[in-house]
Amino acid sequence: MQENKRGQWGSSFGFLMASIGSAIGLGNLWGFPYKMGSSGGFAFLVIYLILVLLAGIPLMMAEFSLGRKTGTGVGAYAKLSEKYKVIGWMAAFCPFLILSFYAVLAGMTLRYCLGFLVQIVGFDGFSGQGSGFFGFLLYDTKAMVLFLALAMAITMIIVMGGVQGGIEKFSKAVMPALGVILIGIIIFVATQEGAADGYKFMFKPDFTIFADPSSFFGVLKTAAGQMFFSLSLAMGINITFGSYLSKEKNLQKNAVIVPFSDTIFALLAGMMIMPACSAFGVDYGAGPGLLFASMQKVFLDGMGGMVGNVVGFLFYFLVFIAAITSSIALLEVCTASVVDRQLAKGKDPNRKKISLIFAIAIFIVGLPTAMDALGSGGAALKAPFELLGLEAGGAGYAMWNDCWLDFYDMITEGVLMPLGALLMSLLLGWKLPKLVQEECEEGGHTFKFAGYFKVAYRIIIPIIMVIVLYTQIQAFFNL
Ligand code: PHE
Repeated sequence: MQENKRGQWGSSFGFLMASIGSAIGLGNLWGFPYKMGSSGGFAFLVIYLILVLLAGIPLMMAEFSLGRKTGTGVGAYAKLSEKYKVIGWMAAFCPFLILSFYAVLAGMTLRYCLGFLVQIVGFDGFSGQGSGFFGFLLYDTKAMVLFLALAMAITMIIVMGGVQGGIEKFSKAVMPALGVILIGIIIFVATQEGAADGYKFMFKPDFTIFADPSSFFGVLKTAAGQMFFSLSLAMGINITFGSYLSKEKNLQKNAVIVPFSDTIFALLAGMMIMPACSAFGVDYGAGPGLLFASMQKVFLDGMGGMVGNVVGFLFYFLVFIAAITSSIALLEVCTASVVDRQLAKGKDPNRKKISLIFAIAIFIVGLPTAMDALGSGGAALKAPFELLGLEAGGAGYAMWNDCWLDFYDMITEGVLMPLGALLMSLLLGWKLPKLVQEECEEGGHTFKFAGYFKVAYRIIIPIIMVIVLYTQIQAFFNL
């Protein structure tokens, strides 16, 4: 049944490319550098890498296993037992909320891409805006909403048409091209005066941010959230991918390659943005706008002229496509959760209608993010901290009340995803301790590091998740 109705990946390579394509997106290019920038640079990097090893890889393996075992996506939990259904619903809610701000950012990359294109063809519409173009765009509420709508519409149209072919084709071409342009920009930035400080910020051992122990937990929480987001964990997405993986494929190997490639892209983005900040005088801790603010300086002030326009156009074009391959996956999880449920009830689901309803709902939920100028104050819509008359969290690490984006981030990355990961780990560690191992051994593969993974699911991941959740609750109530 699985073969006919849901299809399987033609090749291991196709599977890998699709899961890598969904993993690599704005999380790597936009999220990782700005979170590293406001959370102590090197200290954040070290914690992030440790988390990916200790928790990211085992969680990815667990999700692939769950998906292949049950042959379904977020519905996997309900299939194991009615009792676990709620974990599935939590997982399905995250992509909904994440896509609402993801599409705002995807829309912004499209706008930058078109902005450079307009300059290339000679209509100097944005001259004089210089690096201020970003600030100008944020306060241009109509444009922000329009580009949010465009990004959602493009995502929806692709999802309506059924999805795998599209994702596979896109990812195969775009990911390598993105890698090449990142390396090109990294080399350019390296030649700029002042770049060295950026590398120091990222790679020179420095834990001064931990002088205050509470900031250790803050950085841990931010890094954990980033890991979930970037690896697309705890959203049912890898469960869905696993369900398409055929039994003879080496699941364990894939669960290592995907996080590994994803981390390489995050590091590349960091090595592009941190030195760009030091060379062009952008504050590392600038927050969610860091990617745009620093890259505008590189293209307009650093490269300048036609070269800057062309490279800027190519860069944003590729980032936009990478963002779209991820948004497709996000909308697909939402749509598939309803489609699968209706199929299970014996109904004949209308896939197009379901995608349309989700797209509209996500657009509406995304409006506050498009309208508060990412919390820079005085925008069409007030940021949560302004509404509540509080101070912006600012220094150290992102606070939930900084802007609507951070608020949505807190609900998903901060609470629901660690909670989902906690429950899944406990389930696979204690209740169904054989599931992951059996899936990994399918097709005659050996399950490596069995002892480690057992401890990871039973103890290590639960402890990390409890700390993250506790820190989140504390940060929320201490305000
Ligand atoms: N991992 C993607 C990124 O880093 C975001 C994403 C999450 C995509 C979940 C699909 C599903 O940009």
